[in-house]
Amino acid sequence: MTDETRGLRNGLTNYGDRDFSLYLRRSFAQSMGISRTLLDKPVVGIAYTPSGFNNCHRHFPELLEAVKRGVLAAGALPLEFPTVSLGEGFLFPTSLRFRNLMAMDTEEMIRAQPMDSVVLMGGCDKTVPAQLMGALSANLPAVQLVGGPMMTGRYQGERLGACTDCRRFWGRFRAGDIGRQQIDEVENNLATTSGTCAVMGTASTMACITEALGMLLPGTAAIPAVHADRLRAAEETGRLAVSLIGSDRTPDKIITNESLENAIRVLLALGGSTNAIIHLTAIAGRAGVPVSLKRLNELSETTPVLVNLKPSGSNYMEDFHAAGGMGAVLRELRPLLHLDCLTITGETLRERLDATEGWVGRDVIAPLDKPLEEKGGLVALFGNLAPQGAILKRSAADRTLFEKTGRAVVFTSLQDLAARIDDPDLDVTADDFLVLQNAGPHSDSGMPEAGYLPIPKKLAAQGVKDIVRISDARMSGTAFGTIVLHVTPDAASGGPLGLVRSGDQIRLSVEGKSIELLVSDDELAQRMAQRPDDVKPRRRGYDKLYADHVTGADAGCDFDFMQQLPHDHEHC
Ligand code: FES
Ligand code: MG
Repeated sequence: MTDETRGLRNGLTNYGDRDFSLYLRRSFAQSMGISRTLLDKPVVGIAYTPSGFNNCHRHFPELLEAVKRGVLAAGALPLEFPTVSLGEGFLFPTSLRFRNLMAMDTEEMIRAQPMDSVVLMGGCDKTVPAQLMGALSANLPAVQLVGGPMMTGRYQGERLGACTDCRRFWGRFRAGDIGRQQIDEVENNLATTSGTCAVMGTASTMACITEALGMLLPGTAAIPAVHADRLRAAEETGRLAVSLIGSDRTPDKIITNESLENAIRVLLALGGSTNAIIHLTAIAGRAGVPVSLKRLNELSETTPVLVNLKPSGSNYMEDFHAAGGMGAVLRELRPLLHLDCLTITGETLRERLDATEGWVGRDVIAPLDKPLEEKGGLVALFGNLAPQGAILKRSAADRTLFEKTGRAVVFTSLQDLAARIDDPDLDVTADDFLVLQNAGPHSDSGMPEAGYLPIPKKLAAQGVKDIVRISDARMSGTAFGTIVLHVTPDAASGGPLGLVRSGDQIRLSVEGKSIELLVSDDELAQRMAQRPDDVKPRRRGYDKLYADHVTGADAGCDFDFMQQLPHDHEHC
């Protein structure tokens, strides 16, 4: 720690008189009542994201105290700063729309304020990717801390975890299998502690991936939010942030092509969330590394599913932690990983894995030579319906539907879906394919988690549990079913998905990794020519920025202008 550090000894402000700037900054810092001794220390910024609209971050005040404890104990001054916080259940039209806003906020506040390193405190689905994107672009030494998962609740002796069980019970309620009083009781018990969703949804997937990337302290991705170890991890993260000061362990050294491949392997072995592929692509874009869906398929062919967690399997995050968590998964996957990757502690992944061993709960984490599934949880599909790719979570799907041709039943928008899906006169059978258009990143809906189309009520009442569904939307990481997502280009940007009509035949082949609309090129060209011209609404503010610059799912839905100059991080 030298005078080279930024901290409050950094007078680089805009008065043209460096000493005056420093004097002024310190005068204001004095008003915080912090001793001069501490003001002379380097500063660890803490990107702090509690919010009354973010239940998952409810425990952040306590976690913040622990981070600060660690920073102080290691001899630096902790200063937290707020950024946008994104609570998944409270954002309209969808949280994804605001991920880039949070990423920009995080990047700019890291860059603008006088800190020497930064702790990123996130948890709920979009917060960790947003923070990693921002931190990569700012490229100051940074370490991620996650809030950790919720504990499960109980209903009539059965464990409940948000939000896979939410969907299961809602499906039963829709089918008339349980009544209003029961669904109310379930609602009371689904999410009962602070922390992120209790299954391998997007938040947990991103936490695990961040550990695989090397941006998280080892062994900390899955510690439950309410566990005392979570506080110890926070304290240790604070200490680590101090050790990063002046080091060259910047995010661009840690998030590389190799560590991103490790992260994809982990995503596949976890049977993790489909959203993670969008986020990883966006994070990689900030590092200037393309993530190709073709490469995803290559990795998926050679990465088995090892983790038995909902929604793909049957356990919860608290079980995963007790079974050994990410350390155990990484040790199993070791032969498949790039081991020379640098991690946040300064060790390589190899050194990290050499230094740890432990008991593994085999009912939750399978050995590499006896996996739960031979191939990875996610697969990309290509074809004339999705020239730039689509995603299917095969680990959470019904394999009897994997090689199938079906008749399209088309919904042109979310509104159309809501209006007709439960119509008793809807012309639909269990062998049809439900198609939803205009729910992608370029639509006004902003690519919500609407890809998990409900089973039409009349089919649900007949006991139909799964049906092929195809859309340009996303799906919650906690959902399951034979659901083709992220069809790219999306309908709203002129993609062929927008040309599908009810009655068309579509062929799905998971084996062939293809999704084909069985309509002749001539007919498609005619339909394209007949498309009505877009009436572009007048937009302003963030809505305009988003509409003008969001990229497709294949580029991570980041803004096109954010992915350039990934390491142009001259600090002022
Ligand atoms: Fe925050 Fe699920 S709602 S992680
Ligand atoms: Mg989610």
